[in-house]
Amino acid sequence: MIAPKGDNLMPGKMAIAVVVAGLAGAAAAWDDAPVPAPQPIGTMSDLMIRLMYPASDAILYVESRAPTSEVEWNELQAQALILAESANLIMMPSRVVGDRDQWMRDARLMFDAGAAAYEAALDQDLEALIALNEQVYLSCVVCHKRTRPDYGRNYKRFEDSSAEEARVP
Ligand code: HEC
Repeated sequence: MIAPKGDNLMPGKMAIAVVVAGLAGAAAAWDDAPVPAPQPIGTMSDLMIRLMYPASDAILYVESRAPTSEVEWNELQAQALILAESANLIMMPSRVVGDRDQWMRDARLMFDAGAAAYEAALDQDLEALIALNEQVYLSCVVCHKRTRPDYGRNYKRFEDSSAEEARVP
């Protein structure tokens, strides 16, 4: 005997009801859990080396590595966004090093430089990006001078012996 259509649908409906009930249970358990807060995953050093360093390089070397296609502009835009948003990551309370107010002001320099670079990258404005080089570079240096005791000894990226100190972000 061929079962009426309605009967055929029942198992499906029941399965959905079971799933929905299950989700409601999971949601209830979720509600009871502590409210999530931002939590660090990488160390400060990880963020610097994996996010800020390559992202700032994309801006600092933009003149010699000028994007020539939409794809390359897209990549540069992503790097500029990483630079800007990295400032928010290091502003997380558990990541503050030393005096909090000073740290936040230092990080804000990077935020401003990164945000400006992101805007210029979205506009595909090469001149504006070149003009932002100094601001990006300084935003790294200001904080490092204060927070890194070994500052200047490592990461000599700019070989300029005439400079008073190595131009290391
Ligand atoms: C608000 C402060 C602050 C800003 C802004 C900042 N840094 Fe750092 N940076 C630090 C601190 C603190 C360390 C030391 C981290 C450690 O070793 O634990 C560090 C370390 C580094 C290191 C060395 C990491 C290692 O483990 O060897 C690099 C590379 C680096 N920063 C790149 C950058 C670049 C590039 C920028 C700018 C785009 C930048 N940083 C901006 C605070 C800052």
